[in-house]
Amino acid sequence: MSTDGIRSVVAGSVLELVLDRPERKNAFTNAMYSKLTEELNQAAQRAEVAAVLIWGAGNNFSSGNDLKDFLESPPSGTDAPVFHFLSAIASFPKPIVCAVEGFAVGIGTTLLLHADIVYAADNARFQLPFINLGLVPEGGSSLLLPRIAGSKAAQELLYFGEAFDAKAALQHGIINQIVEQPKLLEYARQRAAILATKPRTAMLESKALLKKSQEAELLNHMRVEGDAFIKRLRSPEVAQAIQAFFARK
Ligand code: COA
Repeated sequence: MSTDGIRSVVAGSVLELVLDRPERKNAFTNAMYSKLTEELNQAAQRAEVAAVLIWGAGNNFSSGNDLKDFLESPPSGTDAPVFHFLSAIASFPKPIVCAVEGFAVGIGTTLLLHADIVYAADNARFQLPFINLGLVPEGGSSLLLPRIAGSKAAQELLYFGEAFDAKAALQHGIINQIVEQPKLLEYARQRAAILATKPRTAMLESKALLKKSQEAELLNHMRVEGDAFIKRLRSPEVAQAIQAFFARK
């Protein structure tokens, strides 16, 4: 267990970032966003890190932003830790692999849209419940999801906000491959290690070429989304939806 909810380990040339708050299904706190931002910014510079692998402790990826934080300490501007994290992952120059098992909700799904390679266990459950919570999509998902999944699929996933399984995620292009749950982490580690052996400069330049055409547009879109998201967070609809979540048991 880690005090700030993120564990980082360098294994060979791969930096593993573990979302480690299993008692809340790895819901993201401000401290977790800040730590992830710091780790990514350092990893971008560290010569010994060639790739990053992100996974979640306790057999879940993440249940999204901590809903208590949304009520008690919501981001007040686009300078908040969540937005620094989103910029850091969107601009990260080295390959990012994610291994998803169990729940991947909200930003637990939208951060996957920024990863280069995503492996998911057959038990993975994804969900984009922003509208159900009175919110708007975040993390660049209102730009990236239509491009990745097509506009009709993006509208369906975002408007209904229903959970979907690994097969649907594969069909929509959100993940690369489904792996049997017990083998997932080992497989993702092997694949990240392979990426880390590739010629470094060729990898960096190739990723830059793949991302370049939409990077400025994406960062700008995330600012627009961020402003809309912050406004929605202050609405009574959101307070009601979050109170209903905590009152559900
Ligand atoms: N923020 C804060 N606490 C959360 C959380 C979140 N995003 N997700 C789960 N938790 C807490 C639960 O309140 C519960 O706490 P408790 O043990 O004190 O009751 C604990 O984590 C375990 O979650 P639980 O709901 O009992 O697990 P589950 O297996 O029944 O359901 C989820 C898992 C992820 C489907 C469900 O927890 C959920 O829908 N969470 C909210 C997801 C969400 O809306 N995220 C924000 C998107 S913008």
